[in-house]
Amino acid sequence: MSSTPEFIIVTPQYEPHIALIQLNRPKELNALNLQLMGELRDALKILDNDDSVRCIIITGNEKAFAAGADIKQMAGKSAIDMLNIDQFSTWDGIKKTKKPIIAAVSGFALGGGCELCMTCDMIVASETAKFGQPEIKIGVMPGAGGTQRLTKAVGKALAMEMVLTGKFISADEALKNGLINRVVPVELYLNEAVKLAKEIAAQSPIGVRLAKESVLNAFNSTLDEGLIFERKNFYLLFASDDQKEGMNAFVEKRKPDFKGK
Ligand code: CAA
Repeated sequence: MSSTPEFIIVTPQYEPHIALIQLNRPKELNALNLQLMGELRDALKILDNDDSVRCIIITGNEKAFAAGADIKQMAGKSAIDMLNIDQFSTWDGIKKTKKPIIAAVSGFALGGGCELCMTCDMIVASETAKFGQPEIKIGVMPGAGGTQRLTKAVGKALAMEMVLTGKFISADEALKNGLINRVVPVELYLNEAVKLAKEIAAQSPIGVRLAKESVLNAFNSTLDEGLIFERKNFYLLFASDDQKEGMNAFVEKRKPDFKGK
């Protein structure tokens, strides 16, 4: 980030080892325009390279996590404009983040907003959260992973219904169908995300990194390929001080102090 971002607020140490990024276009329900997505990609890259950060939370506000890609910015574009702008290439940068990302969601998580929280590694929602892929209602379809990640998370039946009708699901339905990790009262959703982030931040950062990579690899590989990938990452962790610390702490009946080395 060469200058202060306009549409996101970044707090690198919101809590020790935990960074917070708040999407901040409240009047537009955090519609994800090109600038915001570029700022988000750049911020994640910086936080990913910051050794003091072990877990990242992305949030919006009580009314909206994000109501989708910015329809006003896209409305007049031609197919060739879209091809040249290639707005979703920004999302590839987000996907590359090695540290775990938790989406703390309240209110609308629609279209690109739902896709953004599905690009994160875990989702903590307030009981007011609404998830949906309503692009069909504006003559298009999901373009940032909605047909893929939603289907893998909730299965074909519900994904097909959501994508073809644009219907929203509640936080409880999202929890029941495996889309999100937990639902809490609206005043607690950020605290709950921080609680989860703290649990992760207390683990070995190298272990967390390779474990995240291995879980994500399950989406792109056969079982045998995934098992080989997992096994190599497991063996690799024996090169870390954290492995020695973690196992010695267990044997010595004390809490481990992981340094990320
Ligand atoms: N893009 C641009 N502006 C948006 C927006 C979006 N996705 N969503 C909301 N806004 C704007 C509204 O235009 C409105 O602006 P004005 O005050 O200037 O009119 C402001 O945010 C507040 O919105 P509403 O008045 O509509 O608020 P509401 O509470 O009545 O309704 C809503 C909320 C149901 C979320 C409604 O805003 C809505 O349907 N938004 C669009 C949802 C959508 O279709 N998302 C998919 C976008 S396409 C996409 O995301 C493609 C992809 O795969 C990445």
